[in-house]
Amino acid sequence: MSSNQLDKKAQAWSALFSEPMSELVKRYTASVDFDKRLWQADIEGSLAHAAMLQAVGIISEQDLADIRRGMAQIRAEIEAGSFEWKLDLEDVHLNVEARLTQLVGDAGKRLHTGRSRNDQVATDVRLWLRGEIDQLQPLLSGMQRALVSVAEKNVDTILPGFTHMQVAQPVSFAHHMLAYVEMFARDAERLADLRKRVNRLPLGSAALAGTSYPLDREMVARLLGFDAVTQNSLDAVSDRDFAIEFTAFASITMMHVSRLAEEIVLWMSQNFAFIDLADRYCTGSSIMPQKRNPDVAELARGKTGRVYGHLTALLTLMKGQPLTYNKDNQEDKEPLFDAVDTLRDTLRIMAEMVEGILVKPEAMESAARRGYATATDLADYLVKKGLPFRDAHEVVAHAVKVGLQRGVDLSELPLDVLQLFHATIGEDVYEVLTLRGSLQARQVLGGTAPVQVRAQIERHKARLA
Ligand code: ARG
Repeated sequence: MSSNQLDKKAQAWSALFSEPMSELVKRYTASVDFDKRLWQADIEGSLAHAAMLQAVGIISEQDLADIRRGMAQIRAEIEAGSFEWKLDLEDVHLNVEARLTQLVGDAGKRLHTGRSRNDQVATDVRLWLRGEIDQLQPLLSGMQRALVSVAEKNVDTILPGFTHMQVAQPVSFAHHMLAYVEMFARDAERLADLRKRVNRLPLGSAALAGTSYPLDREMVARLLGFDAVTQNSLDAVSDRDFAIEFTAFASITMMHVSRLAEEIVLWMSQNFAFIDLADRYCTGSSIMPQKRNPDVAELARGKTGRVYGHLTALLTLMKGQPLTYNKDNQEDKEPLFDAVDTLRDTLRIMAEMVEGILVKPEAMESAARRGYATATDLADYLVKKGLPFRDAHEVVAHAVKVGLQRGVDLSELPLDVLQLFHATIGEDVYEVLTLRGSLQARQVLGGTAPVQVRAQIERHKARLA
């Protein structure tokens, strides 16, 4: 077939069609504008399929050599930007195959033996996604390392810990950073786990029912580095769970990012002034000359919604789809691609920004002091003196009330005043009422005592090394 004939074939699929597709239908159904991004996976998958076809005796050594030569040229053309992508040829698969046939003739036409675009596209997307996953893992580690590096410098920096956005108890700022490390560590774990289900080979399922050719699917899996081959051809061509799982993972990770982003925005506001960001992560205002806005954090928070949208899109795409492949499935790509891109860029920029956070320890500490953050410590002190906890709780509430009336912290109330609340209170109470004393006391595993926080930092550093 000449290339002219091939193009015609794409317009009117086969002898069965008596007229070409309308221009509008062509544009509506084509996916090449976005799925050309899969070209490397498409070529890799085809080369493995061809090698297997030759190994089992379906195509000749000469055919295989021709296919390899043609694919090498196509690769070079795409890399050089000289490859001519044609909308008429619908998608990446038909574009590559048509060019191959143009370059090497009959061998190109034999490549599609025992294969359908249905198992081909499922294979390509999995291969592509696996590559992206392997690039995301180091970014998740980088995010964790950035947080750990801030933690290392701030074990003794005191931050008011909040519940209900009300000052609750003092914590080490490092402890707070390590809370996010835990989140991103779970994300990395989720990603590693879902990779196992991404990395299964659908090729050999053909259109839906399998194929009558004696294909060696295990060989193709080996060549492409898949861990396993899929076990049901109907499921294999229609399954997009791997895309949904990935987007669910991406959504959870973005949710973690958005929590951190929100805290950064709050901390940077003049009302907190707990941190500052380097100028290169801030933008100004066109009208208010005094402004330095934490746009990067805000955008990261905003982009979270977009990734959730992709998850919803994919779940809805698959809902109610009858077996097996339906053209609907072509819609899996843009949400998945954008989820990958958004997550990648967000992790990169957030890690950089976090690493450069300027911590203002005095502001954090004075906010903790203003909020009666050691009230629980006074209650615990009274419990150690023999009071039931509920009674101690009540005693301290009275003390806080007096503190508020006088505008002073508990640690600033004189001993004789404190003793009015309970006679057992002695001079040693002031050790408990200090912020550092409060931190020191929380020695439980996972608590905020500096010795515990340092141990966690060491654990993470060893894990992330
Ligand atoms: N472009 C299609 C997709 O992305 C490839 C598979 C098309 N298969 C079909 N029988 N129309 O899903």
